[in-house]
Order: sequence, then structure tokens, then C-alpha cells
Amino acid sequence: MTAAARLQHIWPAPGPGTVASLLDWYERERRDLPWRMAPGEVADPYRVWLSEIMLQQTTVKTVTPYYLKFLVRWPDVAALAAADLDDVLAAWAGLGYYSRARNLHACARAVVEQYGGQFPDTEAALGELPGIGPYTAAAIAAIAFGRRATPVDGNIERVIARLFAVAEPVPGAKAELKRLAATLTPKKRAGDYAQAMMDLGASICTPRRPSCLVCPIERHCAAHAMAIEASLPARAVKKPRPERFGTAFLAISEGGRILLRQRPPTGLLASMLEVPSTEWTEMRPVAKEALRRTPLRGDWWPVVGSVVHVFTHFRLELTVYRALVRDEAVVDLWAEPERCRWVHRRDLDDVALPSVMRKIIAHGMPGA
Ligand code: ADE
Repeated sequence: MTAAARLQHIWPAPGPGTVASLLDWYERERRDLPWRMAPGEVADPYRVWLSEIMLQQTTVKTVTPYYLKFLVRWPDVAALAAADLDDVLAAWAGLGYYSRARNLHACARAVVEQYGGQFPDTEAALGELPGIGPYTAAAIAAIAFGRRATPVDGNIERVIARLFAVAEPVPGAKAELKRLAATLTPKKRAGDYAQAMMDLGASICTPRRPSCLVCPIERHCAAHAMAIEASLPARAVKKPRPERFGTAFLAISEGGRILLRQRPPTGLLASMLEVPSTEWTEMRPVAKEALRRTPLRGDWWPVVGSVVHVFTHFRLELTVYRALVRDEAVVDLWAEPERCRWVHRRDLDDVALPSVMRKIIAHGMPGA
């Protein structure tokens, strides 16, 4: 028997039987997530949309408390549209990728203004709204409206690459993986199919050491038949992430307030608050030069160690200086006092302070 014939023999090509086994498994084993409806219940598009935006590049575990907090505060799309952007950004703080929060707010407004508060129910119309890319449009169309749409995220790419033994590396293979995933999308229950694939990827078909023994579609998996599942999907060799360095200045007043500054309205972490710092450059900081950029005069002391934060496009390493200053300390003109404000340590949870800035404060002021 040739290798191909042997594979044909032990590998029934994925098809409707694969999907039926997957959906059976999903009914028994699906994760109980707060945005999921009980079987037979109609999904609320607002909840599906909110969860999908939060889940972009973020884990279920991180998203869950934010999702619940948002729902209590803004129970429907009209409430979110009427909210202040600053309040939405503050509630989002810690989830990262803040353009998602800005787009969330813009999208809520567009749904109210253009669609009278009802989300459109097609993949194409959803994809026109702010912050809804092809993946999210397909996810909402399938999960909230039962459309035959095929969202493909990293988890689903992995399942499909293995199921069909696609050897071409991602990202080059993305279009092919999407095409193959779509060949399996059922006419009915496309939302369950998508979520079953997500759950399978998260719990069984994991990146390293997949649990093939308990996989509901193991029999259909070409990579498993060839014992190459752990090496798929193949990855193109990655360029190392660039590095940036800077010095942050943590000014703490006698009364326990911290000097924060609003970032510019465009670019990374736009309009969020920051601990004032030097520019982030490719050069490691030289203490004498950095100390010329303190936002106000004071007795500045270096904090031992550094703060490291990994953004999508670079790794940032910050040295932190700290100074205890008088309550009425005046910010130097070059540090743009009009954009600065003093925030008490106990109020930090209520402001739009990104994770990297929280790390700086925790580093320079343990217990804040
Ligand atoms: N990741 C993205 N969307 C998801 C969903 N609806 N369920 C579980 N994980 C997800």
C-alpha cells in the first residue's frame, strides 16, 4: 500500500461526520461562559459583540470580570452609546489594546445612530462597523444570528491545520485554513460549530501536547494519523521583537497623590494616563541625561530593578525614579502641566491607567 493509500484507509477525510461528532461533544462538554446562551436560547447580539471585542487577543479568564462589570454598568447598546468615552476607557483599563475600547464606544454609537439600536444581522454589514474586523463579523453573524459564517482565530487555525495536515506555515497558510474551515461550517448551528472549534482548541487541541486521546474528532485528524500533530501549525521564523528603553518619573505627594499625565490623542495608548517619562528609544538610558527630563524639581531616587512590558511590536524596559514632593509642587513647563493631574493612590482604579503604568506605580510604590 502507498503512504497516500494508507492515509486514506485510516483517515476518513473531514466532513459532516466530523462536525456531528464535534457538536455532540460541544453539547456535553462546552465551557460555561457568561456570554453563552443555554442550548435553545436566543443569543443577545450586544452580549456576543461585547464578548468578542474583549476576547480579541485576550484570554477568557482575563475577559470574564471585565465583561460582567461592563454588563452591569452598561446593560445594552444604548446605555454604552450614551456613556462618556473617558468612563469606558477607565473601565477598560488593564485589558490592553485600548483602540478596542475607543472603537467599542464608536460602534455602540453607530449601532444606535444608523440602526436604531439593533445590530445588523449580516457578516457584511457587521464588518462595516468600527472595531469589527472579518473574524469578529463572522463570529457575531454565526453566534448571534445563526448565519453560515466562519470565524477563524488562532485556536481554530490550529485545529484545522491539524485536521487537514496543512504543512504550509502560518501566516502564509491563513487563507487556505479559512477556506478549509468554511468547508465544514454547517448550514444550521454555525455558531455552535465555531464555538465548539474554539473550545476544542482551548482545551484539547492545545498548542503543545494536545490531548488526542480524549479528542472527539481524533479519528478524522490527518495530522494525528501521521503523528505530526504537535508540530502543526508550522510557524514561519519570527524576527526578534525590537527593544525600547526609557526612564519613568514617579512623583508622590505628601498626601499620597501621584503625578499622572494624559497621553496625546493619537498613537500608542492614546488619551490614556501615564506616569511621565522620557521618550522610549532604542538606547539604554544614561542617568545624567534622563534626570534632566524630570517633570518637576525634587529629590529623585532610582528604584532598584526595572519594569518590563511587552507590547505587540516592541519590548519596553523602564528605569524608574521616584521623588516625594510637597502637595503644591509645580510641574515644569516643558512637562506640559496642562495635561498633568494629581491622582490619589486610592483612586487609581477609577482612571484610565494602562497596565504598563500600573506596573510602574507598583514597582516604585509597593502596596499602592
Ligand atoms: N474566543 C473568542 N470568542 C470566543 C467565544 N465565543 N467563546 C470562547 N472563546 C472565544
